[in-house]
Amino acid sequence: MAKDPVRVLVTGAAGQIGYALVPMIARGVMLGPDQPVILHMLDIPPAAESLNGVKMELVDAAFPLLKGVVATTDVVEACTGVNIAVMVGGFPRKEGMERKDVMTKNVSIYKSQASALEKHAAANCKVLVVANPANTNALILKEFAPSIPEKNISCLTRLDHNRALGQISERLTVQVSDVKNVIIWGNHSSTQYPDVNHATVATSAGEKPVRELIADDAWLNGEFITTVQQRGAAIIKARKLSSALSAASAACDHIRDWVLGTPQGTWVSMGVYSDGSYNVPAGLIYSFPVTCANGEWAIVQGLSIDEFSRKKLDLTAEELSEEKALAYSCLN
Ligand code: NAD
Ligand code: LMR
Repeated sequence: MAKDPVRVLVTGAAGQIGYALVPMIARGVMLGPDQPVILHMLDIPPAAESLNGVKMELVDAAFPLLKGVVATTDVVEACTGVNIAVMVGGFPRKEGMERKDVMTKNVSIYKSQASALEKHAAANCKVLVVANPANTNALILKEFAPSIPEKNISCLTRLDHNRALGQISERLTVQVSDVKNVIIWGNHSSTQYPDVNHATVATSAGEKPVRELIADDAWLNGEFITTVQQRGAAIIKARKLSSALSAASAACDHIRDWVLGTPQGTWVSMGVYSDGSYNVPAGLIYSFPVTCANGEWAIVQGLSIDEFSRKKLDLTAEELSEEKALAYSCLN
């Protein structure tokens, strides 16, 4: 029997990530090839014409899974009945800016959209915040939508996770699909800590630790980390625009694994509300290694954290606490 359609909201849908993301959702990349969807697309009035153009293209693409499109500049109409909300709307950073430099503009958007989601989304709606500063926007959304369970609010660090997989696969000349269990800890910013201490590669002789296959600590503790931390800036420098296709693809990976589950023995990175695991202060949205089953994520417990890692986990937590304070000062 055909499944009922799932309503997926994409805010900022007329922007560059939105333009890459909505066809992926309509093709089943996010929720699977047998899951019909109804797309809700929100943007602001100056982008209304362009948003309507995206709607026209969705109709023209004749996606079999796409059962309807709501394209609107009305936040209530956009949020009504949605089961999944991908929050991309906001302003991207430009060359030379840090992600927190876009704070003032973006946190106030997340405060106001929090109430609309809380009042009008379907019960148990899952929320993914993509717009920067992603962790802090998600935290503001959580704090101003107190009736949405904290387990339903997350931010995107899967792009950083995928970038880390990509760097390891390039270095070893192996398939990216054979590399797993890297971790992104902390903020989606240049203080994030990409950690390979538990990562493995599938080889003909079984699974091998990345640290055994790349016996170059200087690279793993140096250039690898900074490359992943700075990848967003490198793309802005090269494209004069921030990453879009990789961000859209990572957003699909994030929601797919959250809804449909992570493969056995594999974890992924998600920005989620800290419960104090790994001595990360509770009350921050922090990226952890998680596994997902039955539509719920759980932080992977019991991983060893060496002294080098500890410092890096704490540094990125400190930045998130500062961002939280800054966000509140912008809102006041
Ligand atoms: P963009 O400027 O191309 O698109 C953003 C869209 O949001 C625009 O169409 C704009 O009109 C719209 N918008 C602005 N205010 C809005 C509001 N109040 N409600 C609804 N829509 C609104 O930007 P982009 O390149 O698509 O990037 C979007 C965001 O995602 C940026 O903040 C960017 O920094 C961030 N980003 C995050 C990641 C990540 O991994 N977390 C990766 C890439 C980009
Ligand atoms: C990215 O990581 O590519 C995005 O967050 C865009 C940015 O500002 O770096």
